[in-house]
Amino acid sequence: MATIQIDAERCQKCGKCVQICPTIFAQHTKGAIPHLLDTTRCIECGHCVAICPSEAISHSSFPSGTIAPIQPEQLPDTAQFMELLRSRRSIREFSKRQVDRALIEQIIEAACFAPSSHNVQSTEYIVVQDPAMRQQIVELTIAQYRQWRKLLGNPIARTLTRLVRGSTGQATLDELREAFTNLINQYGQGSDPILREAPTLLIFHGDRHIGFAGVNANLALQNASLVCETLKLGAFYTGYVVAGSNFNPRLARLLKLPPNHKIYAGLAIGHPRFHYKNWIERKPTQIQWF
Ligand SMILES: Cc1cc2nc3c(=O)[nH]c(=O)nc-3n(C[C@H](O)[C@H](O)[C@H](O)COP(=O)(O)O)c2cc1C
Ligand code: SF4
Ligand code: SF4
Repeated sequence: MATIQIDAERCQKCGKCVQICPTIFAQHTKGAIPHLLDTTRCIECGHCVAICPSEAISHSSFPSGTIAPIQPEQLPDTAQFMELLRSRRSIREFSKRQVDRALIEQIIEAACFAPSSHNVQSTEYIVVQDPAMRQQIVELTIAQYRQWRKLLGNPIARTLTRLVRGSTGQATLDELREAFTNLINQYGQGSDPILREAPTLLIFHGDRHIGFAGVNANLALQNASLVCETLKLGAFYTGYVVAGSNFNPRLARLLKLPPNHKIYAGLAIGHPRFHYKNWIERKPTQIQWF
């Protein structure tokens, strides 16, 4: 349980800490020092410490060294940030050069700053840089797609799908089967359609019993992918690995995934072989205003 104290001498009695707290940790009456109420529901988000203008709050979860002043001049303006968002692309062509450990650590640090439901910070990370292990992941993923392709060709499964979903369902299955066949064939011809020869795979996993663990992991991934862009690294979302991993216990064992953990996201990372010259507009989206 968090221990929170307010230094009466430092407190300016502004009440901001009480107003921004997502739980009701204290009560504030105008011109008075906040009166601590229930700190047991504190989610350790640090908002109170971050907003206090006079460093009057000491919170057991945030000892010295965990708090730093925001430097507004370091923040990108909207134009700069939009340029970053527009220029980020899924990079699938990499040089053979491995990504330095320090850069991966920086990417994970960026990921950790993503929001998480109830501030659970549930996302954990696995970094795969070992070429043999990386290859095993590719092989196990392909094996999973082989199994799925077989299942999609099963006459009983096809008849059942036709009965339940009609001809549209059948067509979807056929499309999937064709896509899986292409993937397997590409692999058979010596290319790597799963990780695209990226030297690093960053896996985002979490306890499946934690609410929103998947959303939290994917928000973390997006932070990571944006910081990759600033580090001049290329990255793409490894959907095939993520989808395959949830059905292949051998992959979970290989990665020493803790019990009850699930892989929610994966990012293949490397030094890009090419640099893009232009950004391209997205499709017009549908927006409803009320
Ligand atoms: C999936 C998800 C659901 C969330 N739902 C709520 C919510 O319903 N109400 C709320 O006040 N904050 C919500 N949050 C915000 C989190 O509480 C917040 O991200 C966390 O406390 C960390 O604080 P920060 O985002 O200021 O770093 C949600 C965040 C995520 C990722
Ligand atoms: S850390 Fe967050 S939840 Fe806890 S008291 Fe401060 S503002 Fe409230
Ligand atoms: S934010 Fe800081 S200064 Fe303001 S009331 Fe809270 S403890 Fe006091």
